[in-house]
Amino acid sequence: MSQIIIALSKGRILNDTLPLLREAGIDLLDDPEKSRKLIFPTTHAAVRIVIIRATDVPTYVENGAADIGVAGKDVLMEHGGGGVYEPLDLGIARCKLMVAGPVNAPAVQGRLRVATKFVNITQRYYAEKGEQVELIKLYGSMELAPLMGLADRIVDVVDTGKTLKENGLEPTELIAHVTSRLIVNKAAMKMKHAVIQPIIDRLEAAVARRASAAA
Ligand code: ATP
Ligand code: PRP
Repeated sequence: MSQIIIALSKGRILNDTLPLLREAGIDLLDDPEKSRKLIFPTTHAAVRIVIIRATDVPTYVENGAADIGVAGKDVLMEHGGGGVYEPLDLGIARCKLMVAGPVNAPAVQGRLRVATKFVNITQRYYAEKGEQVELIKLYGSMELAPLMGLADRIVDVVDTGKTLKENGLEPTELIAHVTSRLIVNKAAMKMKHAVIQPIIDRLEAAVARRASAAA
C-alpha cells in the first residue's frame, strides 16, 4: 500500500481536524502537545501526519512533500491555490477576511496605508477596486499597526470581532468568507488514489454528518 503524509498546523487546525480524521479512521499515536516530534505515526498504517506552520501547508502539498493538507482559505488565497486540488470544505476554523480600521475613522487623504500579512490578497482586493494603496507587510498582531500610527487600515481574519473591539478597531469591508479546506497534491491524487480517495470520502461523510446534526 502507498504511504501518505498529511500536513496539519498546530493550534486550531490540528484541534478541529483531528476529530474529523478520527471519524475517518486516522488517529495520532502520540500527543503532539507533549512531543517535539514533527512527524507522527497514526492508527492508519499508510498514513503519517506532519505538523508545520499554517502558511507552509500549501507549499508542502503543492511540491508533493506532503500528499494531503488542511489549510485556511485565507492561506490558500494568499499562496495562490491553483497548484493543488481542493476537494473538500471541512467547514472548520470559520472566520472572515476583512478590512478594519479605527472606529469611525475619517476618510484618508492621499494613499491609504494598509498593514497585513496577506499582501497578495490585499493587493488584488484594492487593484480590483482601482485604488492604489501602500502595503505594509507584517507577520502578526496587525491590530497594533493603526494604534501605533504605522497604518490606516489592516486586513486580517475576524471571528468574534473581540480582538478588533478591544483595540478600538471595527471591521469595514468583507473580502472573503473563510473555512479550512482539504488540499491534495495533483500527482498523488492519481498515483495514490487507492489510499487517498477513501480518506476523502470518509472525511466528506464526517463533515456531512456534522452539517446535518447542526441543522
Ligand atoms: P501561524 O501560527 O503560522 O502564524 P496562524 O496564526 O494563521 O499561523 P492559526 O491561528 O492556527 O495559524 O490559524 C489557522 C487558520 O485558522 C487561519 O489560516 C484561518 O483560516 C483560521 N483562523 C484564524 N484565526 C481564526 C479565528 N480567530 N477564528 C476562527 N478561525 C481562525
Ligand atoms: C486571530 C486573528 C485575529 C483574531 C480574530 O488571531 O489574527 O487577531 O484571531 O479573532 P476574533 O475576531 O474572534 O477576536 P489568533 O487568535 O489566531 O492569534 P494569533 O495572532 O496567534 O494568530
